[in-house]
Amino acid sequence: MILLERKKRCNIKILYCVLFLSFAICIFTALAINKDDLKKYGTIRIEEMNCQLQKKLGEKDEFGIIPLISLPGSGNTWTRTLLKETTGIYTGSVYNDTNLFKNGLLGELTDPTDGQTLFQKSHDIKIHCFSSKINGILLIIRNPFDATVAEWKRQNGGGHTGQVNEEIFKRTTWYVMANNSLKRWVNLTKMVFQKHKVKIYLSFNNSQKTPLHVILYEDIVRDATSEMKKVLDFMEHENLFLVKDRILRLGCFKKALNETQKFHRPRRPPSFEYFSNDLIDLGNKNIEEVLLFLIENNYPLIDIIKYKRNRKV
Ligand SMILES: *[C@@H]1O[C@H](CO)[C@@H](O)[C@H](O)[C@H]1NC(C)=O
Ligand SMILES: *[C@@H]1O[C@H](CO)[C@@H](O)[C@H](O)[C@H]1NC(C)=O
Ligand SMILES: *[C@@H]1O[C@H](CO)[C@@H](O)[C@H](O)[C@H]1NC(C)=O
Ligand SMILES: *[C@@H]1O[C@H](CO)[C@@H](O)[C@H](O)[C@H]1NC(C)=O
Ligand SMILES: *[C@@H]1O[C@H](CO)[C@@H](O)[C@H](O)[C@H]1NC(C)=O
Repeated sequence: MILLERKKRCNIKILYCVLFLSFAICIFTALAINKDDLKKYGTIRIEEMNCQLQKKLGEKDEFGIIPLISLPGSGNTWTRTLLKETTGIYTGSVYNDTNLFKNGLLGELTDPTDGQTLFQKSHDIKIHCFSSKINGILLIIRNPFDATVAEWKRQNGGGHTGQVNEEIFKRTTWYVMANNSLKRWVNLTKMVFQKHKVKIYLSFNNSQKTPLHVILYEDIVRDATSEMKKVLDFMEHENLFLVKDRILRLGCFKKALNETQKFHRPRRPPSFEYFSNDLIDLGNKNIEEVLLFLIENNYPLIDIIKYKRNRKV
């Protein structure tokens, strides 16, 4: 009897042992899987990601017409390369710039309204090719003083890297150009909103404003990944385009950005104020006007008040 009892107890002990062991193995495996998951979705995975992602042109009429509007000097070309990476689709342009084409912007020479590209660069929204149906608008706003300087450098041989002789800012032609550019900045913003108010008919009794998304250039410089995410959200929300491999693309984008930023040389700051007080007054007045205009149009981008510049003493 006693022997049997002992055997029974022993069996129970063994049972407990087995149960405990399986439990432990379970937990151990779970932990191990978790660790694997971390590897997969944390930074290690990003390093191991295959970022040889495809980029393509669409078929004719595959995409809607979505002008990418900016004042010259506002980083339009740079933004296009970011958009191409995050969407996987080449961007277009109304300018047919063969240099950009040679530099890999393969949508550059296509007809901007044929639907092969996603986003079409233009510095003007009133032009003929956008007079017909457009499906949305992307507007880049940059500090008009900075954009004007960047554009003047580009026009005078600074290219996009921008090391030029500062003498170009002492020419009278500079004042003429800057005067025009600061005015054009206001006009362009207002024209874009005029276009935004044009109704798009989704069906015969269902219409909406032309979808508009505004990006501040300074926000792209600070955090390009978040700004690209917002563009993708906008595109999805307005049924314009869905990036199917969005998480992978954004991960690769972040990684590539991280790598290129190591090579950025700091810019030499200006050795004198390029703008006369007249031009500073004009620019500041325009900035206030645009801010008020944006607020009235439910786009309260208060941050642009920081664009205002101090007068020379
Ligand atoms: C650019 O090229 C396209 C296609 O060849 C053409 O339809 C368009 O008119 C050209 N635009 C300009 C501004 O030259
Ligand atoms: C902007 O400039 C265009 C000419 O390009 C002109 O027709 C239009 O009236 C101007 N709009 C505003 C709001 O100044
Ligand atoms: C549009 O019209 C259809 C049929 O006439 C109707 O069922 C639908 O509710 C209408 N939609 C709107 C937004 O008025
Ligand atoms: C960015 O680069 C730094 C080193 O330059 C590296 O430590 C970091 O992990 C990188 N981040 C990403 C998200 O790749
Ligand atoms: C800018 O242009 C206007 C004419 O459009 C002129 O009256 C004004 O004096 C110019 N301002 C500067 C600073 O050149």
